[in-house]
Amino acid sequence: MLGDKKVTFSGVQPSGNLTIGNYLGALRNFSKYSEEFQTFYCVVDMHAITVRQIPAELRRRTYETLALYIACGLDPEKNCLYVQSHVPAHAELSWILNCYTMFGELGRMTQFKDKSAKHADNINAGLFTYPTLMAADILLYQTDVVPVGIDQKQHVELARNIANRFNQAYSETFTVPEPIIEKSGMKIMSLADPTKKMSKSDENTNAVVYILDDKDTIIRKFKRAVTDSDTEIRYAESKDGINNLMSIYSCFTGKSFGEIEAEFAGRGYGDFKLAVGEACADALAPVQAKYNELLSDKAYLENVMKNGAEQASYFARKTLTKVKKKIGFVI
Ligand code: TRP
Repeated sequence: MLGDKKVTFSGVQPSGNLTIGNYLGALRNFSKYSEEFQTFYCVVDMHAITVRQIPAELRRRTYETLALYIACGLDPEKNCLYVQSHVPAHAELSWILNCYTMFGELGRMTQFKDKSAKHADNINAGLFTYPTLMAADILLYQTDVVPVGIDQKQHVELARNIANRFNQAYSETFTVPEPIIEKSGMKIMSLADPTKKMSKSDENTNAVVYILDDKDTIIRKFKRAVTDSDTEIRYAESKDGINNLMSIYSCFTGKSFGEIEAEFAGRGYGDFKLAVGEACADALAPVQAKYNELLSDKAYLENVMKNGAEQASYFARKTLTKVKKKIGFVI
């Protein structure tokens, strides 16, 4: 809690083209918190450097991610939008929390295991302590709820454990955050291999639909989506491809699986794939238009970042000072 409002915090990495999985599971839902909660949405550039980045691209994507936040409906007047590295308190608290996080806990994080398998030549300490930085992000703002995709739930649980551990050692200091996993945050799967999560870094670009793909590309990708040799559009255990397309269609149109089955009864996969592609492209069109408009005004984006960082710093410093006092630093 900050003042009389509950707090929401979430972060998005500026590390690649975001997918419809990021959109449906996270970005799209962020704006609904603006009225009721005090909201912080951060572009987490410090998390991004746990894997190698091309500097010019990282910089460009930082602007792009901020623009995307706004294009997805986050009004900078109502939400604190900022860049993680602009608020040094994240790095400071992260170091402190590292000393309250166990080696074994970090070793159990599935994202660490996945990423270190994928980047075997660069298993750096930052990749290992990535979840502690994420805990610092969340705990600095006395966050009550953290809207995330299901893949980040384990990290939020670690943040809870760290908060509880610290509170027990030094008296109540941090709000213990709750993860909120959106229904539409159900995993959106790859179009090429629907047993695998859709990933922005997939080498097969047909497997992934990006938020910024144009309409023709979106429709082409859905047309090529891997399905099965059956012909019926229905949700069933053995039909990963169709299940995934039904989930995506449901997320974009708000229709239930029952309604979708009725709508496509007696129709083929071709028709259905086209409908999914069109629903997706139509939903993304206004986001893309706004995004392009914002990116042409860098000064505006810089102003948003600056104001956001000032506002975030104010709250972050309060928590950080409290923490430093409790652990015995001279301040
Ligand atoms: N790790 C998150 C992801 O990759 C991004 C993130 C960083 C985040 N800090 C956060 C999400 C704090 C929620 C809260 O998706």
